[in-house]
Amino acid sequence: MRGKSVLLIIGGGIAAYKSLELIRQLKTRGCGVRAILTQAGTEFVTPLSVASLSGEKVFSDLFSLTDEAEMGHIQLSRSADLVVVAPATADLMAKLANGLANDLASTALLATDKPVLMAPAMNVRMWNHAATQRNLATLKKDGVLFVGPNDGEMACGEYGPGRMAEPAEIAAAIETYFASGGRTLEVRAPDGALNGLRALVTAGPTQEPIDPVRFIANRSSGKQGYAIADALARAGAETTLVSGPVEIAPPAGVRLLKVTTAREMLAACESALPADIAVMTAAVADWRPEVALNSKIKKEAGAAAPSIRMAENPDILATLARHATRPGLLIGFAAETDDVIAHAQAKLKKKGCDWIVANDVSPATGIMGGDKNTVHIVTAGGVEDWPEMPKSEVGTRLAARIADAVRGKAA
Ligand code: C5P
Repeated sequence: MRGKSVLLIIGGGIAAYKSLELIRQLKTRGCGVRAILTQAGTEFVTPLSVASLSGEKVFSDLFSLTDEAEMGHIQLSRSADLVVVAPATADLMAKLANGLANDLASTALLATDKPVLMAPAMNVRMWNHAATQRNLATLKKDGVLFVGPNDGEMACGEYGPGRMAEPAEIAAAIETYFASGGRTLEVRAPDGALNGLRALVTAGPTQEPIDPVRFIANRSSGKQGYAIADALARAGAETTLVSGPVEIAPPAGVRLLKVTTAREMLAACESALPADIAVMTAAVADWRPEVALNSKIKKEAGAAAPSIRMAENPDILATLARHATRPGLLIGFAAETDDVIAHAQAKLKKKGCDWIVANDVSPATGIMGGDKNTVHIVTAGGVEDWPEMPKSEVGTRLAARIADAVRGKAA
């Protein structure tokens, strides 16, 4: 996005505060932001905060002679590569759908010759209203792009569609839009891009038995690995998903091998070779109780607490890296709580894989078990920082990145 610029129109809605974060995210990715704040928008965020974050003068009054002298509203509407409306209120959507132009925001929207992306935000009943849905259909027909709204709890206490997409989602959509030369807001591998290739994905935790009723495990939900397997299968790869115990349904079109322990996971992975692509997402237990007892350890009165001797588990990723039938593109994950990139770079060498997808799993990030992820793709060639996005999107983007790599476009 470096060198690109966005004209951001901030409408009057409670979601306006999220637009401040959107400005920050766009700026950190090198995208310039100039903002128009509607009259109603100024009730929710101040021109000063918008100006401080964007580093640009904020425009808010159509009839300001000073503004017009500095930059006419027609010129302003065309000064950016993309016009983004966030939050896009029911009012702003209605105005553009019907060609009204009675303030700076609606005038700029009508006068621009650049593509327009709207991130709607409104009460669920307003969103579902026939008038809004009619306007939405008209705007889509006119070529306006949309991101969101999402389902969820609303500031007004109701639940349903109408929540503005998260700043990270909007920023990711904008980034993709620019990267694809304006073709799409979503990065995914073209249909059939992985046809004829075999993929192996591990996901979830492993459980290492102590006795018949107790085990050692971890907090991995499996969501990220399942999303990656889903995306690889959708792109046409014949996909085997080796999964530890999780609570989620397997993606369609994927061969699921359920396992419990690390040793079972390794055996299942080896049975799935050869593979062109392997993505090791599982949070494999590094150690297991050396002996899994056949009967339950009893709590005897007065007896000392038992101690458990641990044995090291096989490292599945490192084993596959040295395997006679090593997967063509071998990708590991690195869940870290500090020095994420440095640890990932060290892990790339130590494990002998081709890429490491690194993420920060400090409790404050909410990544473990959550629906979002912020990852960095670490390869011998360098580091790619991806913005925060839903785990499903990390899956589709990774599948697209993999398709590029195996088809020889990128290393
Ligand atoms: O060493 P660490 O557990 O941080 O490495 C993480 C990567 O290694 C992940 O890709 C994980 O799936 C893989 N791994 C493995 N077998 C192990 C431990 C980790 O495949 N025993």
